[in-house]
Amino acid sequence: RCSTLCSSAVRNAAIKHVTVIGGGLMGSGIAQVAAVTGHSVVLVDTSEDILKNSAKNIQGSLKRVVKKKFADKPEAGEEFVQKVMNNISTSTDAASVVQKTDLVVEAIVENLKVKQALFSTLDKVAPAHTIFVSNTSSLPIADIASSTARLDRFGGLHFFNPVPMMKLVEVIKAAGTSQQTFDALLDFTKALGKHPVSCKDTPGFIVNRLLVPYMLEAVRLYERGHGSKEDIDVAMKLGAGYPMGPFELLDYVGLDTSKFIIDGWYEKEPENPLFAPSPLLNKLVAEGKLGKKTGEGFYKYK
Ligand code: NAI
Repeated sequence: RCSTLCSSAVRNAAIKHVTVIGGGLMGSGIAQVAAVTGHSVVLVDTSEDILKNSAKNIQGSLKRVVKKKFADKPEAGEEFVQKVMNNISTSTDAASVVQKTDLVVEAIVENLKVKQALFSTLDKVAPAHTIFVSNTSSLPIADIASSTARLDRFGGLHFFNPVPMMKLVEVIKAAGTSQQTFDALLDFTKALGKHPVSCKDTPGFIVNRLLVPYMLEAVRLYERGHGSKEDIDVAMKLGAGYPMGPFELLDYVGLDTSKFIIDGWYEKEPENPLFAPSPLLNKLVAEGKLGKKTGEGFYKYK
């Protein structure tokens, strides 16, 4: 497993140069992990200011790792951070940087039209061998890929937040994804030190397909007055061994994000009771109570 800069493994791999588009929460994490494992990374966003902030966040995250890992060797720690940061460059012009890239990982705003516009542009300028992936949580990979002429070299890599901590990556094989592309994505995921699972291009893939309806069921249980949210959280932590209860998790994920996902699925499958809208969730979102990030969701935060 790559826990430091294992560039010899990367040297022999098909994917050495990675372009990460979107320097937000997920893109910064993906860029960090790829750089730590010795890949050359270009991080792209829409402005220099955003990119400066992304670099600051990555550096901050690396420093926290170094504090633990290099506790007795601060100089080696400093050197490690520098080496990783040297693997990352930034750009506001995706079309100009993809010309020498092996993989484009898209982690921009969750909007089909915007993602399609981006990939359609990049498809015309990226080399033939370049693989495109999206980190989308809720959009079909095939719908995004349809904006390009490289359906065989298009797949999904679904990372989890926080990316540097979470071991899992769902590797999505869409209808058009070739076996060669899929294998390269599995290898890349392993080179990142992550654990890949394979999944078809279905709503929510594996984790969210199980997790989102479960969280909504918890809200419904509470709405019916069958248990308090505190008791439901404790029950799932102590009885099912989950690290967080469903209400804590909803607040952590963001109530708006959860609503966005469930609304999208409901629109596609209105007859599925698991995807039915929750009046309470909708009410909290309408009131701007989106969870931890706004200071209040199902619980209040200081
Ligand atoms: P975010 O809002 O933190 O970051 C998105 C970034 O993309 C922003 O910095 C924005 O300036 C940039 N951006 C927007 N349009 C762009 C464009 N056309 N070109 C270049 N940059 C552009 O969002 P976050 O949370 O990082 O999510 C990104 C993607 O990852 C979404 O598709 C989301 O569904 C997916 N995802 C999110 C997870 C989460 O827990 N937040 C988990 C797994 C996937």
